[in-house]
Order: sequence, then structure tokens, then C-alpha cells
Amino acid sequence: MKRVGVLVSGRGSNLQALIAAAQEGRLGGEVAVVISNVAEAPALGRARTAGIPALACDHRGTPREEHDRTVLAALQEHGVDLVCLAGYTRLLSSAFLAALPHRVVNIHPSLLPAFPGLDAQRRAWEHGVKVAGATVHLVEEALDAGPIVMQEAVAVRADDTPETLAARILEAEHRIYPRAVRLLLDGRWRLEGRRFIAEPEPA
Ligand code: GAR
Repeated sequence: MKRVGVLVSGRGSNLQALIAAAQEGRLGGEVAVVISNVAEAPALGRARTAGIPALACDHRGTPREEHDRTVLAALQEHGVDLVCLAGYTRLLSSAFLAALPHRVVNIHPSLLPAFPGLDAQRRAWEHGVKVAGATVHLVEEALDAGPIVMQEAVAVRADDTPETLAARILEAEHRIYPRAVRLLLDGRWRLEGRRFIAEPEPA
């Protein structure tokens, strides 16, 4: 069974989608450990309810490299094959990413490369885009920038508010994150430059 580690900072609805997929045999692996840099994150409670080891690893007052070393050690201790960022609000150091090449993945609430960074759904709405969406991508050092694994488009409605749009984007996130993780764990993919190519399943 492949093992997934999830890094969180807050609410944890994407974590919940990954846990549900694992429980239903749709993830291609299990959620082995959940780590939060925020001790009070509701996501940790979701992990504990599901019987998954849940660790708080406060970053405050600790240099980034040192904090990342602690998180990396915990992930390795749990033997993870893939690390999923699910609303993790910290940038990762180059040493962390070098230790897990092409093994860290993120979900972002926009059609990247549009609207990287914070509050992407509101900025897309304010910009007046007609199509918004969600992206799963491999993580590189630059913010929200790695090869795109999967995207789902969400049409913007005339009567949308930033909140109603964000809610529909979140539903898309919950659909594509488990599917993208399964694809990554299956290993039937390759990179051509920064293009992520999914290989067809054998007949
Ligand atoms: C999600 O919308 C996720 O896409 C976003 O944070 C939210 C976390 O919600 N991530 C980013 O903006 C990354 N740049 P959750 O804790 O309920 O999964």
C-alpha cells in the first residue's frame, strides 16, 4: 500500500477528500500521517477522527530550513511515497524539495498560471474571468509554479459572489485532488519539459 503524507494549516476539507477517497479505495494508497504547522488547525481533528497520526509542528521562531528538516524527518519516519499540500500556508525550502524530487504536490484554487498566491478565487472574480477553476501541480520552489498534473474548469455565473464561486471551485478541488494523487501513485506518468504526460492504462 502506497503511503501519503499530508501537510495542512487550516480547515482541512481537501484532506477530508483525500481521507474519504482512501477509505473508499479510490486513492491508490492510504493517508499515513498528517502534519500541521498550526496546532489548532481543524484539519488535525479530521485526521484524528479517521485514526490517522496527526502531528503539530509549530514553525514560529524556527528558521525555515530547520522547521522543514523536522517535518521531513516525520514524513520519512512514516515512510511516505508522496507528500500532498492541502492548504499548507508555508513555502518549502529547496532542501526539503530536493529530498522528495517530484514527490510533493499541491492543490490551488485557480487555473494556474493565472492567479497564483493568496485569495485566488476572489482575485479571479474581481478580474472578471468567465472561467475559473482548480489546479493540482507538482511543487517547485517558486510559488504555485510546478508542472500541472490536473485541472478542472468552473464557469463563473453572472450572479456569483467571491464566496459562491469559491464554494464551487472547492467542490472541483475535492474531485480532482484524489484523482491526481491516484495518478501520481500509479506512476504511469512522465515529464516532458514542464509538461506532465499521463500514460494510458495498460489494456
Ligand atoms: C484550498 O482552497 C486550497 O486550494 C488553497 O487553500 C484552501 C485550503 O482549504 N490553497 C492555496 O491557495 C495554495 N496556494 P482546505 O484546508 O479546506 O483544504
